[in-house]
Amino acid sequence: MTALLSRTGARVERLPLSRFTTLGVGGEAEVWFVESHEQLAEAMEQPYRILGGGSNLVIADEGVPERVIRLSGPLAERDLTPDPALSDDTWVVTGWVGGGVPLPGLIRQLQKLGLSGLEGTVGIPAQVGGAVWMNAGTRYGEMFDGLHTLEIVTPEGTRQVTPDDLNWGYRDSGIPRNHIVTRVRLRLRRAAPEDVLAKMDFADQARKGQPKMKTPGCAFKNPGGVSAGKLIDEAGLKGSRVGNALIAPEHANFIVNLGGASAADVHALLALIRDRVPVPMELEYELWPAPGNA
Ligand code: FAD
Ligand code: EPU
Repeated sequence: MTALLSRTGARVERLPLSRFTTLGVGGEAEVWFVESHEQLAEAMEQPYRILGGGSNLVIADEGVPERVIRLSGPLAERDLTPDPALSDDTWVVTGWVGGGVPLPGLIRQLQKLGLSGLEGTVGIPAQVGGAVWMNAGTRYGEMFDGLHTLEIVTPEGTRQVTPDDLNWGYRDSGIPRNHIVTRVRLRLRRAAPEDVLAKMDFADQARKGQPKMKTPGCAFKNPGGVSAGKLIDEAGLKGSRVGNALIAPEHANFIVNLGGASAADVHALLALIRDRVPVPMELEYELWPAPGNA
């Protein structure tokens, strides 16, 4: 199907979702590129999913039947100008940063501006909305370290909340699934750009052992602070392969696509890990659709 324009002017196109995921897997769906709150409201009139950077997703080879919303245009723009009413010599509260903004470029820009607080998230290939929704982070910091206000849109309407209003924690914002983070304002500390860069470089060092192939990152959350990768490694599963999906020899919590992997290959490896690792672990990947929910 060629692109169509919806009633409110959103571009709508049937596309393979594999092209939007870092794993490179996923069948077709109707993708809505929404550039305004009006277009977003229209897109949400039917069942929908929200797609960010696609860096935590395992999408079925059949695709998904729901509309897939992608924040674009002004919802993928940023205004980092300090708000004079809320900023001082120490702290800066920025203007709005769209949920569709790619996180890596934002982190580089904040470093150059000498704004500190989010540099621990360096190397996470997400969009701002997706990273906020799951409070992405590393041992050196997480998204909720640098948030002032979040705007959240649902079919029922738009609301603004602060981190204190949410029950957030490790890899969890407390925001229900399909409540869309359209934009956020950041709260950051003024710092020397070279100091921010040094912290970024330090956090980046922890990634040296991570695989460089197509992957959605870590498969499982760390249970009770213990590395899930270490547990999977200790179960002897490094290098296990189903079809064209592999448990990475570099780090056992990463599943990589050797080329032409299917979602079913990845699901089979996840089942193998659950079967062999004695400690219960919560999945970090988002499976579209959720198994048993096809
Ligand atoms: P997607 O993968 O597109 O979606 C994930 C979930 O977020 C879905 O449920 C989706 O519906 C929801 N979502 C997306 N956008 C929005 C929005 N605007 N509003 C509400 N919900 C939304 N994660 C870490 O935490 N730390 C790491 O160090 C890390 N390293 C990684 C390294 C690599 C190489 C890769 C590929 C991934 C890594 N990840 C890491 C995983 C991933 O980047 C994070 O889970 C990230 O938060 C996913 O964001 P996304 O925008 O790509 O979301
Ligand atoms: N380890 C092993 N074998 C493995 C993997 C790890 O023995 O196969 C050991 C390492 O040698 C190290 C320890 O486990 O002693 C911790 O490993 P690492 O430093 O790689 O950290 P992690 O806890 O496995 C977490 C995050 C990553 C994040 C890194 C760096 C989770 C689930 N994972 O990994 O986040 O990038 O720390 O801060 O919290 C993600 O969430 O997708 C992700 C990649």
